[in-house]
Amino acid sequence: MEKINAVITGVGGYVPDYVLTNEEISRMVDTNDEWIMTRIGVKERRILNEEGLGTSYMARKAAKQLMQKTGSNPDDIDAVIVATTTPDYHFPSTASILCDKLGLKNAFAFDLQAACCGFLYLMETAASLIASGRHKKIIIVGADKMSSMVNYQDRATCPIFGDGAAACMVEATTEDYGIMDSILRTDGKGLPFLHMKAGGSVCPPSYFTVDHKMHYLYQEGRTVFKYAVSNMSDITATIAANNGLNKDNIDWVIPHQANLRIIDAVASRLEVPLDKVMINIQRYGNTSGATLPLCLWDYEKQLKKGDNLIFTAFGAGFTYGAVYVKWGYDGSKR
Ligand code: UT7
Repeated sequence: MEKINAVITGVGGYVPDYVLTNEEISRMVDTNDEWIMTRIGVKERRILNEEGLGTSYMARKAAKQLMQKTGSNPDDIDAVIVATTTPDYHFPSTASILCDKLGLKNAFAFDLQAACCGFLYLMETAASLIASGRHKKIIIVGADKMSSMVNYQDRATCPIFGDGAAACMVEATTEDYGIMDSILRTDGKGLPFLHMKAGGSVCPPSYFTVDHKMHYLYQEGRTVFKYAVSNMSDITATIAANNGLNKDNIDWVIPHQANLRIIDAVASRLEVPLDKVMINIQRYGNTSGATLPLCLWDYEKQLKKGDNLIFTAFGAGFTYGAVYVKWGYDGSKR
């Protein structure tokens, strides 16, 4: 029997119109453009500030563009999976809302929670569903409204994050392209360093939790930074070695956009020049589950059929990993 591969056949994206600049952040907290640019690398980020709109709004915009660009018939979609840490509601899933908004009649839908690593886990999940032979066409979406849980009085976290969403179509193929390999890891010891203190079943919302600002993202930046650099660099080097990839035949590295210094460290470990590294952190900041597909959205036109791509990310959990993709189409024709 021929091997079934799972190949990405299109990308759609969406970022909100509102641009939150470093100047504006400097008026909210004690910081400045120079500190943010040198320590993080973010110039501006997009914020979904219309009342009543959540993550599914951005996910829907991205997925609609994807359906349009790929000329997909809603009836042909088998599954929708959304990676998000900021779902519209605790339940039902953001993916189920998307299913309705996209008019999908034959799909099952669920959310996947792997924080900033969500898109890596999405690719692996979609590839496995397709390899089973039972599913042929899957929409995967990375989407986060980080502004919904960022404390804009905390200078250590508020300059980092932004809002956005991007979606990819993943389809079955017998050609030798697609999601070729992955190494994914979870280290639960990361909990104390990156989490939200209240709002879950351990500590449900109360006046106390609101008064004590326990519904915001909490991060011990320095510790997370160290783990991110070493784990992303090691795992990226391993997946490259396992697949015979090196600085000469890697066409693109797509790292999670959390900090330009982490991106630099991963690139230099692989000895890949920065012009082969997808970087848009300066415009969007860290959009968590959306960073990797937003990179694809921005760089799609430069991608060629057969390009070797290595994705890597690190996030709360800790979750981390790397995925090797052999790109399946010429982006300039889209
Ligand atoms: O996406 C999920 C994974 N997350 C990450 O990968 C994030 C990893 N961590 C980081 O990117 C960095 O640790 C941060 C960007 C969060 C912070 O950068 P840092 O170089 O680690 O700074 P720091 O926390 O060690 O703080 C250095 C100094 C401190 O002052 P003192 O104690 O040395 O006097 C902070 O109070 O910088 C101060 N500081 C600021 N100063 C101006 C912290 N935030 C700011 C700010 N503006 N916004």
